[in-house]
Amino acid sequence: MKATARAHANIALIKYWGKRDRKLNLPAAGSISITLEALSTVTRVEFLQGLKKDRFILNGESTPVTQTERVTRFLDLIREQSGTGLCAQVTSKNNFPTGAGLASSASAFAGLALAGSRAAGLALSFPQLSELARKGSGSAARSVFGGFVEMQAGVRKDGTDAIARQIAPETYWDLRVLIAITSDTPKKTGSTEGMLHTEKTSPYFREWVRSSVSDLKEMQKAISIKDLSKLGELSEYNCLKMHALMLSARPGLIYWNENTLALIHLVRELRNTGTEAYFTIDAGPQVKVLCEPENVPAVKNALENSRQVLRIIETGLGGGAVLVKDTAL
Ligand code: DP6
Repeated sequence: MKATARAHANIALIKYWGKRDRKLNLPAAGSISITLEALSTVTRVEFLQGLKKDRFILNGESTPVTQTERVTRFLDLIREQSGTGLCAQVTSKNNFPTGAGLASSASAFAGLALAGSRAAGLALSFPQLSELARKGSGSAARSVFGGFVEMQAGVRKDGTDAIARQIAPETYWDLRVLIAITSDTPKKTGSTEGMLHTEKTSPYFREWVRSSVSDLKEMQKAISIKDLSKLGELSEYNCLKMHALMLSARPGLIYWNENTLALIHLVRELRNTGTEAYFTIDAGPQVKVLCEPENVPAVKNALENSRQVLRIIETGLGGGAVLVKDTAL
């Protein structure tokens, strides 16, 4: 009873920030993301006789109890569906820094959903995997698919319609993302906690949810006609709107550092001087810059010459979650 899977991280162009149901992890609004080739997690799940509790090894080390508990709660869902009573050994490896705003929970739970369900003998469809992954982490529902992906908020109470779907595969449009790492320090407030705090205290939360409907429509349109200017403008708008929302919580959530802001200006300056590039930022200080392949050298050069950047990760769009050989770990 063993399976290994690889899943990629994603970045949202239209962000998910807030839930309509905490227990089932249902998003308050839909979101749209792209799956990233260069950021991946490989996860092996092995249900074993004689294990008294689940074990979780991440990047070669045992994890703190809170992290293992989150994995156990997720495996409980798989145990419930499959009828197995066994505990599991979970071994997982990220090829990028964990907990620094690079969506490690998305690739983690998408991979865990696939490897875990297969190891338990379940053959789930992709929509079913997306539903399962969502219960681990909202953004993980999107990482089940490759390319351009939309997460639907759904309306049902049981959450069966709160799943992601692929808008277009990774081969549809060759977009590139340059991830500028500005800090390796893990963030102080995780997304789950940060969202809850925002929902509870921000006077702008309802408007954020309401206005997401037209953002989603516009983004679908921009993708369908491969309009980079529209996609980029909308990504920046939606990203800044999310950070404004976070700032309006009480006390305000500030995920940026001083380098983040400097890089926002740098990207806008690049645009003013003829290099078409756009930024987006999640719940962390890293800046992701979107552009087409011909502009990668100019963007890379500007980021490399900036004091604010520790490291750059360059990526194209990646595929969905897949089963892989055990040796991939
Ligand atoms: C800012 O999916 O990590 O990256 O569902 O509580 O696990 P939970 O939250 P998570 O939140 C991601 C927030 C974001 C925006 C996004 O990816 O859409």
